[in-house]
Amino acid sequence: MSGRPSPTRRTVLRGAALTPVAGLGLAACSPGGETTDAEPSAPVDLGAESEVTKGSVKLYRDHNVVVSRDANGTLKAYSTICTHALCPINKLEGTKLVCPCHGSEFDATSGEVLHEPATVPLKELPVQAKDGRIVAGPAATA
Ligand code: FES
Repeated sequence: MSGRPSPTRRTVLRGAALTPVAGLGLAACSPGGETTDAEPSAPVDLGAESEVTKGSVKLYRDHNVVVSRDANGTLKAYSTICTHALCPINKLEGTKLVCPCHGSEFDATSGEVLHEPATVPLKELPVQAKDGRIVAGPAATA
């Protein structure tokens, strides 16, 4: 009896099923649909001041705050709790904040509504640079 041919031919599909998509994080939806996230109720240290250079915007998802710095170096901060139904906004495209819940859009540098359903601007928060850190939240400038 001669041995039967071994199954040396394997079909190897490369790349067909593996399409790595570098993650820019899809919205992490919680099953319950509810969130307890909220804007800061006290000043929070967001990070190094150098993280927000002139003309740039940074979204601090963990604290629900967006900070921008204009060409003069002035900092501005807004709560990123959507004014429509209080979802935390988790997406920043350039200077545009996009709410994952119903698609409202806001200008991150002014808080103004760019796209409904939200009609109320984002809430401005006090912000300051302190010892090389950005601190935002109520009473931060007191
Ligand atoms: Fe943001 Fe509805 S909660 S669009």
